[in-house]
Amino acid sequence: MCGIVAYLGKKTARPILLEGLKRLEYRGYDSAGIAIVTDGKLYLERRVGRVGNLEEAIDGRKEFDGSLGLCHTRWATHGGVTDFNAHPHRDDRHGIVVVHNGIIENYSALKQYLQEKGHTFASQTDTEVLAMLIGELYEGDIEKAVQAALREVTGAYAIAVICEKEPNVLVAARKGSPLMVGIGSDNEYIVASDGAAIIAHTARVIMLDDYNVVKITRDGFHTTDIHNTPLSPKVQQLEIDLEQIELGAFPHFMLKEIFEQPSSVRACIGGRMNIREGKVVLGGLSSFAKELTKASQVILTAQGTALHAAMIGRYMLEDLAKIPSHTEYASEFRYRNPVIEENTVVVAVSQSGETADTLAALYEAKERGALAIGVVNVVGSSIARETDAGVYLRVGPEIGVASTKAFIGQVGALALISFYMARKRYMSADQCIDMMKEMEAIPAKIEKILESAPRIKKITEKYIERENWLFLGRGYNYPTALEGALKLKEISYIHAEGMPAAEMKHGPIALINEGMPAVFIANRGRQYEKVMSNIQEVRSRGGHVIAVATEGDTEIAKHVQDVMYIPDVCEPLSPMLAVVPLQLMAYYAAVARGHDVDKPRNLAKSVTVE
Ligand code: AGP
Ligand code: GLU
Repeated sequence: MCGIVAYLGKKTARPILLEGLKRLEYRGYDSAGIAIVTDGKLYLERRVGRVGNLEEAIDGRKEFDGSLGLCHTRWATHGGVTDFNAHPHRDDRHGIVVVHNGIIENYSALKQYLQEKGHTFASQTDTEVLAMLIGELYEGDIEKAVQAALREVTGAYAIAVICEKEPNVLVAARKGSPLMVGIGSDNEYIVASDGAAIIAHTARVIMLDDYNVVKITRDGFHTTDIHNTPLSPKVQQLEIDLEQIELGAFPHFMLKEIFEQPSSVRACIGGRMNIREGKVVLGGLSSFAKELTKASQVILTAQGTALHAAMIGRYMLEDLAKIPSHTEYASEFRYRNPVIEENTVVVAVSQSGETADTLAALYEAKERGALAIGVVNVVGSSIARETDAGVYLRVGPEIGVASTKAFIGQVGALALISFYMARKRYMSADQCIDMMKEMEAIPAKIEKILESAPRIKKITEKYIERENWLFLGRGYNYPTALEGALKLKEISYIHAEGMPAAEMKHGPIALINEGMPAVFIANRGRQYEKVMSNIQEVRSRGGHVIAVATEGDTEIAKHVQDVMYIPDVCEPLSPMLAVVPLQLMAYYAAVARGHDVDKPRNLAKSVTVE
């Protein structure tokens, strides 16, 4: 929900900070700000808008040439998008400066207490309250003041803190929002929300855990908890290579990631399917094979795109492994007082592994005795660390805010888990071999669909003036319809609604007017004829139907305005193909409407606040 980068070392901080911040800008981009200590004096600058605005504002200014600094891109939660609400925020006495990702839930009570102590506030943010509280508790040791302040706050935070009076100290801390410390050579340290800001300098990192506080100086660093109890976190290796987070020849990360999907699927399934023996190899689950075999129910929980993938996983688990399963919005699950019976498995699906609602749902499920499985992309992320076992997507960093290759990876990983659990129950080796061969053919089939991208672009451009679209599908592709609607909404700002195709006549059909686009997923499958009837219902009321259909189906072309073809595929895996034309439609609609595809308004890549 925001990007934090901080630096302490021998180099000039500014270029390292700004370069790192640009790599994190997908995490939030309402405003950007920087603070640097140069020759013992603190300098601070903040600007609404992109990092480029900030870079311009400090360009050539020598006071920003110091070697200790921090910076932030904001996704506003408390207080509007203004210069004075932008981070960094400072206290009013000691030149203490804070950047923060998260929400201080008890900020108003703290603000009142601090105002009674004579502090005056310049912003509406919760973060300024934290800065002021650290200032109030400061007695000459910034590490101790941060620990003391964090003992008073409730909520979620990842913070970096510097103090003008201590120009050789950088403090970082986290609870609930991600933060890591890159350990460079020669006493150089980079604190960041995400490895993308660190990897250009070092691959050695410490992932902070909840309640960790790290004090960094020019001679080294140490870690404690908020009660100053010493800790010794382990140093890990970042598994990111720069090429993965560079745009390359593509105009946008989203398009790059759509076109990466064939290799994403290959990476996701690689080494995990022993086709000769009809066995799925998921090392991350092996120590829980028995529990998974006797699972009485599976609850899949997630948000957004990850929830749509989870819904497809639910269909697979019931269809292939015959396990009672259902999906839940994580934000609802955690407050619903869920029934977790014995031998319940909860699967948390998340690209970032940091979604606050999904993490909270996971805690709740574990609290009630469920076996917690993670299906996550970011290695070492909070959800990955909190689950008992899991399957990494392995699709590489996903930078575009609109999730594409992670969705395909989530469906692929959930398919492998379904095959794995099915084989421990009812699926024969031959059936599993057939399914794995179908999966093995998916990357080439996606490549085939991508060849028709120019045609999909042409179709899309016919409809970009329409302000309301429907997305309709049945069975495995009902969640795909939801995903298509979300993609279009979140980057083109066109209102779209996904639903089961049969649901339309229970009310939404009243929306159909002349020329309204209705996207049907109508590939060959058990409910094809039913979908065809639904298409007629829309056509007869003047709606314009755009169909995703199976190659060779010439019949459907007679009944709809436009067809986007996908290769034939078994139903359980059909969402991995059917979603691709929908991703491309959303992308081309957003570009045609002149929006910033990779940083759509009001959004951020990882929702680390509730
Ligand atoms: C997807 O395009 C959206 N950006 C959003 O719905 C996202 O899927 C959701 O916030 C969940 O994120 P996660 O997978 O990182 O948990
Ligand atoms: N709650 C803080 C604010 O609104 C931080 C938001 C963020 O995570 O970017 O400024």
